[in-house]
Amino acid sequence: MEPIVFFQRLVCTVLLVTAPMVMVTCQLDYMYYVRSCPNLARIVRYGVASALSNDTRMAASLLRLHFHDCIVNGCDGSLLLDDNDGIKSEKNALPNQNSARGFEVIDSIKANLEKACPSTVSCSDILALASRDAVYLAGGPFVPMPLGRRDGRSASIDGANRQIPSPFEPLDNLTAKFTSKGLSLKDVVVLSGAHTIGFAQCFLFKSRLFNFGGSGKPDPTLSESFLQSLQTQCPNQDSSDTNLAPLDGVTTTRFDNVYYRNLLNGSGLLGSDQALMTDNTTSSLVLYYSQYPYAFYRDFGVSLVKMANIGVLTGSDGEIRKSCRLLN
Ligand code: HEM
Ligand SMILES: *[C@@H]1O[C@H](CO)[C@@H](O)[C@H](O)[C@H]1NC(C)=O
Ligand SMILES: *[C@@H]1O[C@H](CO)[C@@H](O)[C@H](O)[C@H]1NC(C)=O
Ligand SMILES: *[C@@H]1O[C@H](CO)[C@@H](O)[C@H](O)[C@H]1NC(C)=O
Ligand SMILES: *[C@@H]1O[C@H](CO)[C@@H](O)[C@H](O)[C@H]1NC(C)=O
Repeated sequence: MEPIVFFQRLVCTVLLVTAPMVMVTCQLDYMYYVRSCPNLARIVRYGVASALSNDTRMAASLLRLHFHDCIVNGCDGSLLLDDNDGIKSEKNALPNQNSARGFEVIDSIKANLEKACPSTVSCSDILALASRDAVYLAGGPFVPMPLGRRDGRSASIDGANRQIPSPFEPLDNLTAKFTSKGLSLKDVVVLSGAHTIGFAQCFLFKSRLFNFGGSGKPDPTLSESFLQSLQTQCPNQDSSDTNLAPLDGVTTTRFDNVYYRNLLNGSGLLGSDQALMTDNTTSSLVLYYSQYPYAFYRDFGVSLVKMANIGVLTGSDGEIRKSCRLLN
């Protein structure tokens, strides 16, 4: 119990000096469901592990769902809501449509939790726990996750279209989207390290391979051998648009620091990945994490919890949904 309490104090202190969200952050609690749902951690871990045993990519997909939930009006489970009376689902926003996946895994965990402890655990907490389990089971750090979020009663498809970062934006624009949520430039570099697992569709980076910025030539920052392999995976025709390429082509399913090593030699997949090398501060951090995997693990844990605290609902705000797809 001691180290957990220590970590909680640490998180609160770090945020006190950097962000005005501290009051909210400190209300979340590492022991929140200890009495009301003692098997919570085991049930979520089992659900994520079962999903991964069928599909290793699901680790990446769950981590991304958590990000796309938190960056739009806070970590309130709004991304999980389906189209319904009064709800225009964020699932149909451009960055999510035919792209966000893993909803069935969250449904199945929620169903098990409703049996074990009905109407107790929020969908936003399930998503936060599932994402940290995904990181851990893919070989990354174990991140203690504070709990006690409540579920929102609205969704914002416009917010999702405007606030989720796009791979076509320059670094300044990406950074602005993170800082508007209380995240720092360092958090941008650290959290981008999530792209050490998972895949992207070709249309999201194909312009880099054939006609970069209308030049008729490839992006000159791409390494020659990486370019050739991508041109094979994503031929220059529309039919290749939804082909998949790994975000980390070297250790695709492993949560490690190879993402940063790839950026150093021009093997970042998305324009937004390689953009971390266009600024001195961010490129120094890339170099640092490429050399010190445990520094990356440590800092990823801190940044993930910061992200998981964005705009959370606590106390009597929001609700505890019975189904993650529907308002009560
Ligand atoms: C810096 C801004 C970011 C941009 C521009 C960005 C963009 C993207 C894009 C375009 C894809 C591929 C989607 C597709 O193929 O349909 C993707 C995948 C992914 N993103 Fe990001 N992302 C960013 C930050 C993050 C963050 C902060 C996280 C989590 C902490 C994250 C986690 C992931 C993961 C794990 C995948 C793979 C998902 C899968 O295979 O199912 N991304 N991202
Ligand atoms: C296993 O994964 C595939 C995708 O890779 C998916 O279509 C299928 O529904 C999954 N099966 C189960 C039982 O989760
Ligand atoms: C970057 O942000 C500026 C200012 O908000 C905007 O005008 C511009 O269109 C954005 N660029 C891209 C590529 O999104
Ligand atoms: C880039 O770095 C990765 C990771 O260290 C390595 O596996 C890959 O071969 C390198 N690629 C090039 C083109 O140097
Ligand atoms: C950033 O790096 C470039 C070389 O890559 C150098 O010319 C410039 O002085 C650096 N700027 C700062 C503020 O350190």
